[in-house]
Amino acid sequence: MALLSSPPSPSPSLPSPPLRLRHLRGLPPRPISAASASADADADADADADADHRLVVSGGGRLAGHVGVSGSKNAALAVLAGALCCSSGAAALRGVPDLSDTRTMAAVLRSLGARVEERGGGEVVVDAGDVTSVEPDSEAIGRIRAGFFVLGPLVARFGEAEVALPGGCRIGARPIDLYLRGLAALGAVIQLRHGKVRVEAANGKGLVGGQFHLDYPSVGATETLMTAASLADGVTILSNVAREPEVADLAKFLVTCGAQIEGAGTSTLVINGKKRLHGAEFTIIPDRIEAGTLMVAAAITRSCISLSPVIPGHLTSIMDKLSAAGCKIIQKGRHILEVGVLLGSKLIFLVLKIRTLRDFVALQVSALSSPNNGDLQGFYLKTLPYPGFPTDLQPQFMALLTTCNGLSVVEESVFENRMHHVKELQKLGARIRLSGSSAFIQGKRHRSSALSGCPVEAADLRGGAALVLAGMAAEGVTEISGVSHIDRGYENFEAKLLSLGANIERKVEHQQQLMTGIA
Ligand code: EPU
Repeated sequence: MALLSSPPSPSPSLPSPPLRLRHLRGLPPRPISAASASADADADADADADADHRLVVSGGGRLAGHVGVSGSKNAALAVLAGALCCSSGAAALRGVPDLSDTRTMAAVLRSLGARVEERGGGEVVVDAGDVTSVEPDSEAIGRIRAGFFVLGPLVARFGEAEVALPGGCRIGARPIDLYLRGLAALGAVIQLRHGKVRVEAANGKGLVGGQFHLDYPSVGATETLMTAASLADGVTILSNVAREPEVADLAKFLVTCGAQIEGAGTSTLVINGKKRLHGAEFTIIPDRIEAGTLMVAAAITRSCISLSPVIPGHLTSIMDKLSAAGCKIIQKGRHILEVGVLLGSKLIFLVLKIRTLRDFVALQVSALSSPNNGDLQGFYLKTLPYPGFPTDLQPQFMALLTTCNGLSVVEESVFENRMHHVKELQKLGARIRLSGSSAFIQGKRHRSSALSGCPVEAADLRGGAALVLAGMAAEGVTEISGVSHIDRGYENFEAKLLSLGANIERKVEHQQQLMTGIA
């Protein structure tokens, strides 16, 4: 692992005492309020983890109607970790999608002694006032990449932390060198021991403001350093940071909690550290990757659907590609509500325009009226950091391109191993040639002849979504295993597709049943 070969400012001479604050004030992590509801949910999730989930998709149909977009997974994960910065008052979050990844993040926070109350409907309240540990549960951290983000708030607030190396989708080496070099620039001393990263403030008190240039605009490193710098003593300047909307959303949350951050959404952040941050109410942005996936669902089935809420500015590169292929995308304006009012015996309709703070709008995506009777054109795409085309939509777009006219090329430049779906798409009949990080896709003129259903396996979250989309376009039945990957990042995925008219069903077989079957 790159990180292990060149650890930043390692301190081999540093003694390795047990963490002073491993259990702050000598208390074990305390039980959580609303414990029963949350614990039950976790128990259900665990019971389900033993089951084999498959999605069975009968392809060939069209979609129609309107679908809701959930809150952003990656913004929610960063904000949940960022809530650890708030030493007074709870962070009341709205728009947190109910996903296995967000539940794992809640488990990480609970393992530190934070109170996390999942109220349903996307509302999650995090009270990190009485954190009792600076060493989160390693098993939970090993399940999601974002678990590692707690390192920033913990070391900034308590002067020390010990966090296991992170997990997440296996789409590349995913080193953490930038996180650690950045923390070192803020006065942290870092050691790697037994698969854990141990970070201490060199001055024994807390982090201090500093300057750090990221070699690559890493989303997670930017988010971790932003939270750390928000509580450091003095001013921090971070350059070549990630500009993803999820990073900007975290900045907005921290500012709502009292942080002083300038430059969110640009390449340079100037952060004036505060002694304390406080809880606040906050709404997570809509998930641009889920929105993009649903837009591809419309395109690959040559259908017309609408979706909301979205922030069109976050979808520019996605809309450009779909439009180039021949889809029509119409912005439906701000939230519009028609209300019928009875005046005497007359029913009068008032049209209320609701302007939300973030100007959420609906989009209509149509592949019906494209040239040549729904025959979409192939194109070239290269994944890049925002505002470039998102790597998290590369597999879904590749599925679409197998049904588009001509030769298309997809170049993956963000992760070095994000092509697991190619082999599965090939099983469905896709003509794809892989060469390094580029895929050459020879699309078929008629989508009905491009793909034909068979059993396939999801190896990661977005690749799994791509297989569902391909199954919806394929002739016959596609059975997708490895659905737990999809459940990490799409809230009610098959329910949403069902509501649009897709023919999709979840098959759950418990281990015992499977074993009976084998016997
Ligand atoms: N990188 C380094 N050193 C580091 C950190 C990253 O070299 O210290 C490299 C990575 O190896 C990779 C590139 O930088 O090649 C981009 O990684 P980045 O750190 O930006 O990604 P991340 O923070 O690990 C987040 C999302 C991913 C999304 C990427 C890129 C979360 C929880 N995850 O990951 O989301 O693909 O940014 O936009 O925010 C997904 O939702 O399916 C997903 C994988």
